[in-house]
Amino acid sequence: MSEAHFGMIGLGVMGRNFLLNVADSGFECVGFDLDGEKVAALETEGEGYSVSGARSLDEFIGKLKSPRNIMLLVPAGKAVDAVIGDLRTKLEPGDLIIDGGNSHFSDTERREKELHEFGFEFMGVGVSGGAKGAREGASIMAGGTPEAYSRVADVFGAAGAKVNGESCAARVGTGSAGHFVKMVHNGIEYAMMQLIAETYDVMKTGLGMSNVEMATSFKRWNEGRLNAFLTEITGKILDFHDEDSGEFLVEKILDTAGQKGTGRWTSEAAMEMGIPVPTIDAAVTMRQISAMKEMRGRIAEVVGDLEEKGLPHADAGESIDSESLEGVLLAGFLIAYAQGFSLLKEASKEKGFELDLAQVATIWRGGCIIRSGLLEKFREVFTADPSLDNLIADSEIAAVIAANTDEYQVFSEYAGSRRIPHLAFSSAFAYFDAMMSKRLPANLIQAQRDFFGSHTYARLDREGIFHTEWETEN
Ligand code: 6PG
Repeated sequence: MSEAHFGMIGLGVMGRNFLLNVADSGFECVGFDLDGEKVAALETEGEGYSVSGARSLDEFIGKLKSPRNIMLLVPAGKAVDAVIGDLRTKLEPGDLIIDGGNSHFSDTERREKELHEFGFEFMGVGVSGGAKGAREGASIMAGGTPEAYSRVADVFGAAGAKVNGESCAARVGTGSAGHFVKMVHNGIEYAMMQLIAETYDVMKTGLGMSNVEMATSFKRWNEGRLNAFLTEITGKILDFHDEDSGEFLVEKILDTAGQKGTGRWTSEAAMEMGIPVPTIDAAVTMRQISAMKEMRGRIAEVVGDLEEKGLPHADAGESIDSESLEGVLLAGFLIAYAQGFSLLKEASKEKGFELDLAQVATIWRGGCIIRSGLLEKFREVFTADPSLDNLIADSEIAAVIAANTDEYQVFSEYAGSRRIPHLAFSSAFAYFDAMMSKRLPANLIQAQRDFFGSHTYARLDREGIFHTEWETEN
């Protein structure tokens, strides 16, 4: 019987959970995976729900009502093209394919174009929230045409996390906008995670706090201005005991961070568009450095024992209290979001996405990894002024950051004198300082460019373009 309203290809944990979440709301669903065990797992977990499994692509397609709505949750890259290739030979014009993975937005642009030429509908959709979000309510960022979205708006609305009764699912813009917004979400995610990691390093390595003390601080911060999913889970991670050793598990984990590329894509896209996102760049860089563990070990040997050389200065710098750390981290978070939103602003202009940044803030309030209490404020700010090009140009947000710059001086002196790297924090505060500088030393750069390459310069005191023969002058 062809009666399913929504189909899923790719029944890994994310795909299965998402489909069960959709079925929770009463939609008739069908799932398919090349791995029969995953289909069986869906059938077991989906007992009693309006969901069924299919053992072949033909069976799957046959179970769907026409025009079909098919979502893919398969690994980004070649797997998406392979599944689309198979579907193309079997579907009918008007059928809708939705890519719900972390695909690069340029792949989404290409696929949308190709599939439209064949008469299919296509939508790139970012889904955030991991397995739990997929099952209980995710943040869903869709691109594509309004017509395509209207076909699954009810399904996504139901599968989205709810904040004060509002669903965190929306069509954020045209074409590849959904995947672009998800990519920037991940860039901000990288930055927030690195800021938290640097805070932990100062607490542990510098202040010598115990895991229980650190966990207590994060749990307390999560009750206040730093209320955020990442703050919450950090509080839970820090005092989690390893069953085997009885010690704290986090301290047993190898210090090399993995990455699948979405943070780096954000930095690359930002660089391409001329939008500075240094805290996201710093987070990517620090993951790369963390992965060079063997080299770090060798360099540490070459540099030698810092303590023997009178370094680090464990007595230098005022100690830093929990309230100051909270303020510094809050400012870091605000700056990381500001960089991400400024990239979205530019991308919307350049790529014609028609993004509504208040709407993006709205659907990031629930379900996703970067959800936090701050997003409600951003929603207000962008609703009041949709043309705002940078959150730190909002007087209230700027005031919160400015109020914590003295604390940052203490933090940076404290961390610096102990050789505790804090690239994400230093990039964040340097970005703030630079963005609020009426005058930067770029006049000297212009002079140098003109000196060695006759690149010309403009003057503060006169109209026009100038060039100087610098070595013959004076
Ligand atoms: C999400 C996450 C999710 C994934 C990251 C991990 O929003 O649910 O961002 O998409 O956990 O992509 O990325 P890395 O492996 O690069 O850290």
